[in-house]
Amino acid sequence: MTNTPVLPGRGKNMNNVIVLGTQWGDEGKGKVADLLTSKANIVVRSQGGNNAGHTLVVGDRKVVVRLVPSGILHSQCLCLIGSGVVVNPIALFEEISELDKAGVADVEKRIKVSAASALLLPIHPAIDRGAEKLRGKNAIGTTGRGIGPCYEDKVARRGLRVGDLKNMETFQEKLKSLLDYRNFMLKNYYHEPEVSFESIMEAIVPLRDRLLAMVADISEILSEGRKAHKKILFEGAQGTFLDIDYGTYPFVTSSNTVAGGCVTGSGAGPLDIEYVLGIAKVYTTRVGGGPYPTELNDEIGEGIRSRGHEYGAVTGRPRRTGWYDAVAMRRAVTINSISGLALMKMDVLDGMDELKICTAYKLPDGTISKLPPLAASEYEGVTPIYETLPGWKESTFGVTSWDDLPENAKKYIKRIEELSGTKVAILSTGPERNQTITLEDPFADK
Ligand code: GDP
Ligand code: IMO
Ligand code: MG
Repeated sequence: MTNTPVLPGRGKNMNNVIVLGTQWGDEGKGKVADLLTSKANIVVRSQGGNNAGHTLVVGDRKVVVRLVPSGILHSQCLCLIGSGVVVNPIALFEEISELDKAGVADVEKRIKVSAASALLLPIHPAIDRGAEKLRGKNAIGTTGRGIGPCYEDKVARRGLRVGDLKNMETFQEKLKSLLDYRNFMLKNYYHEPEVSFESIMEAIVPLRDRLLAMVADISEILSEGRKAHKKILFEGAQGTFLDIDYGTYPFVTSSNTVAGGCVTGSGAGPLDIEYVLGIAKVYTTRVGGGPYPTELNDEIGEGIRSRGHEYGAVTGRPRRTGWYDAVAMRRAVTINSISGLALMKMDVLDGMDELKICTAYKLPDGTISKLPPLAASEYEGVTPIYETLPGWKESTFGVTSWDDLPENAKKYIKRIEELSGTKVAILSTGPERNQTITLEDPFADK
């Protein structure tokens, strides 16, 4: 460690970049994180867990990462899992083994985990399932991975953390006391089978040494990396409108998916961040329940789903599809301090006669709102107001230069910029790394 004071890196060198979702998840964060990681030395996940499913496509190889940061395909890249992540050790080692089998080098050696990360144990998916059943028609449509119950235990201060594995005596005491409470609920409230202490120990103990060997002080690695001018990518999971505070509550996930969550969940300082790249599709999708004003329940929506292969990377569920929503994006831009957008899946809109962009919401009392409400209940009776633009017949698939885009595609993007109040930095025209138009490189020195 050095004592040399280092000024926050704002200004010329763009070394600390956040990549996060600005819609309801599955925007294409994996592709962009993987693309930018060719330049990065460190990629860090700060929130969520294996509810995430980030797709990386290289040639005919497709890899979906869930807990492992998307930098893993680049051998120079250190992959960090911060304190804000909920870590299911069984899922983590399954994923590591899949990546090993796929021929990715030194996977386990290149992943470091915070001792303060919450441990997601087999009791949590059981509670998740029980809670969803009980909600009946009001089910959130969770991924069933136990994410919510694990965060509940963390916030209630009864949860276990990765660092608790260091002392198995106290680990067992804490686990027994957690199970006393959770199994009481499973049995008496959810009417579901209990999860035994022995079964959890059997699953976790064999993984203990491997997991402890990955433990590191993530905040310190980031601080040292910053001093050494390393390029650091903060990889968000889920999306802005699944945020526990700013999403369509209660149809949200249980963590802060907004830019602030990347800071608290990694242990970086707020002034370390130099660029926030917001990822969005040129249309919208949502998996699970909850309000969705621009949803298309017709053949246009079906066309987007089939051309965009809009099926969940984690659960395989069909994604709901709809028009681009500039109202929601305006909130995402301010709440995340978006520096620029990566607009994804341009090619999916090829061949459409016309396109709509939602410019405002009409509220039930007739007033017009330029910003979205903060709770699901306030979306009742909200109708979208649209602007219609002409589509294009040419293919944009794989286009790598702005000049080669059809004129109407350029107009559509320009209008998205104007209505959303931010600029477009990256345009994606296909799932592969090179199917990209880079208008501004977030890591380039400014
Ligand atoms: P993430 O969760 O935000 O990383 O997104 P997902 O990986 O869950 O879903 C995005 C899907 O879109 C993946 O299947 C990607 O391979 C795919 N994808 C990303 N960018 C593009 C694009 O520009 N065009 C097309 N056709 N597919 C894309
Ligand atoms: P990535 O990182 C899309 C959704 C679920 C559900 C809600 C709560 O791939 O974009 P949870 O299991 O988190 O308690 O579910 O959040 N959800 C996602 N939707 N992409 C994701 O991750 C998601 N992670 C959770 O469908 O509606
Ligand atoms: Mg996904």
